[in-house]
Amino acid sequence: MSIDKIREKNLFKNIKEEIEIMYDLIGIKGVCQLEDIIINEDKDITMVLPFYAHTDLWNFMKVKPGKHLSEKDARTVFAQLVEIFDAIHKKQVMHRDIKPENILVKNDELEICLADFGLATRNGPFPEYEKTRTG
Ligand SMILES: Nc1ncnc2c1ncn2[C@@H]1O[C@H](COP(=O)(O)OP(=O)(O)OP(=O)(O)O)[C@@H](O)[C@H]1O
Ligand SMILES: [Mg+2]
Repeated sequence: MSIDKIREKNLFKNIKEEIEIMYDLIGIKGVCQLEDIIINEDKDITMVLPFYAHTDLWNFMKVKPGKHLSEKDARTVFAQLVEIFDAIHKKQVMHRDIKPENILVKNDELEICLADFGLATRNGPFPEYEKTRTG
């Protein structure tokens, strides 16, 4: 993202938080790993992640019969998600934008990783979220 856009939209705090959270989650299985941060001469910021050719769960499901996962595949995905949430919540991180587009599919065995920590927040617990549908 360019420095002009960051300034225009007052996004620096959000980007800093996203990078810090991803940095905190380095080494956590099932979290898309931050590999590098590149800042060029124009001060554009690029976060480097491993590339997964299957892209995300939304695109993966789109081409499946009925555009949804089989019960077996859903179980495979859900079991991993439970582990991932447990691990990131132990680091006091709440993702707050869980949806198929933010779940990347790593391979045909449906190994997944969680991406897009742009709305994530730290320093819970957050009892006020316990009664909401997201988080
Ligand atoms: N490491 C990756 N490998 C393959 N595809 C990816 C990867 N990271 C992101 N994508 C694809 O790009 C999309 C957008 O990425 P991401 O959710 O991180 O950005 P975003 O800021 O939320 O953008 P958007 O507003 O489009 O959702 C994902 O839904 C996914 O399809
Ligand atoms: Mg996204």
